[in-house]
Amino acid sequence: MIEINHNKILESLGCGGYLLTAGNAEKANTLTVSWSGTGVFWNKPVIIVPIRKSRFTHGFIEQEKQFTICVLEKEKQHLLHIFGTKSGRDVNKYEISDTRLADAKQIRGQIIDEAGWHFECKVIYQCDMDITAVDSGIKTGFYSDGDAHTLYFAEIITAYKL
Ligand SMILES: Cc1cc2nc3c(=O)[nH]c(=O)nc-3n(C[C@H](O)[C@H](O)[C@H](O)COP(=O)(O)O)c2cc1C
Repeated sequence: MIEINHNKILESLGCGGYLLTAGNAEKANTLTVSWSGTGVFWNKPVIIVPIRKSRFTHGFIEQEKQFTICVLEKEKQHLLHIFGTKSGRDVNKYEISDTRLADAKQIRGQIIDEAGWHFECKVIYQCDMDITAVDSGIKTGFYSDGDAHTLYFAEIITAYKL
């Protein structure tokens, strides 16, 4: 296991998608996310992730206020399709993808036990998007059904490569 510099985070996230896992050892859920922002807020290294309220995973983030991110190696990127097109409400995504969870190192949470970059994050601020304030083209394209994103600002507690 190699600890990584936070400067590497942006580089690794730029690959088109990542897995976000929230929950605890008893029950957790994972979904695919492609958008993100990283930067410094309140003097902390922060990642901003947009999760729609309709996602099963949304409830797990709300419960624990922490989550992990896994940026998969190229040869495992097909997992993004499984975790991004099926809901944990309907299927056991770990069973159908032959993946496993493992305890996170520094937060109370789980990681997808796969090779790649892993980030362990704690939510320090969140806000629900006000769809009325969004540019009209984006509103039509992304929010015609009213399913807004919650923007989670999460401190990156640790980042490492497995
Ligand atoms: C490439 C890709 C990117 C996605 N990005 C997001 C995202 O940024 N935010 C989000 O809420 N859903 C995103 N999704 C959709 C969720 O991953 C998808 O609805 C998933 O099935 C939700 O799973 P859940 O209900 O088990 O949480 C993305 C899906 C794919 C395939």
